[in-house]
Amino acid sequence: MTDNQVTLIQTSFSKVRTIADAAATLFYERLFTLAPELRPLFPDDMSEQKKKLMMMLGMIVASLKDPETMRTMLVSLGQRHMSYGVTTEQFSIVGASLIWTLEQGLGKEFTPETQTAWLAAYHAIATTMSEAMVEA
Ligand code: HEM
Repeated sequence: MTDNQVTLIQTSFSKVRTIADAAATLFYERLFTLAPELRPLFPDDMSEQKKKLMMMLGMIVASLKDPETMRTMLVSLGQRHMSYGVTTEQFSIVGASLIWTLEQGLGKEFTPETQTAWLAAYHAIATTMSEAMVEA
């Protein structure tokens, strides 16, 4: 990921944060529409989960220029996800829901360059989490 891509991700995420709850709601609605079989993995009441997701994304996005911190965070997040019954195959549908949500939330500001940057970031995040899940 280039410095410019990190800037695009950090700038776009700071805008999504201003509509954090709406964005998280859109994200999970999209996820459960695309993959209804994932719904039972989550609690009935999603309000805390939405907050946790946005907070964790914020921490990941803030650590993009600090690979060691990011790696430590993602390895531990990946290991926790194993205990939730998540499989590595489920990462692509979550990634697709995230990109879709960003597009909805940011509108025209979600430029092709911003999309490419997020795809690269999500790929890196999912790879590190998945490796930690396979190795754990
Ligand atoms: C960018 C990738 C992801 C991020 C940032 C993320 C973030 C989080 C966070 C912050 C939590 C709260 C608990 C904790 O911190 O351990 C969580 C829980 C959970 N996540 Fe993820 N997650 C990601 C990918 C996925 C994927 C691919 C799935 C697949 C379905 C998934 C399913 C779950 C489930 C089932 C829970 C537990 C809910 C519960 O029982 O309370 N997550 N996630």
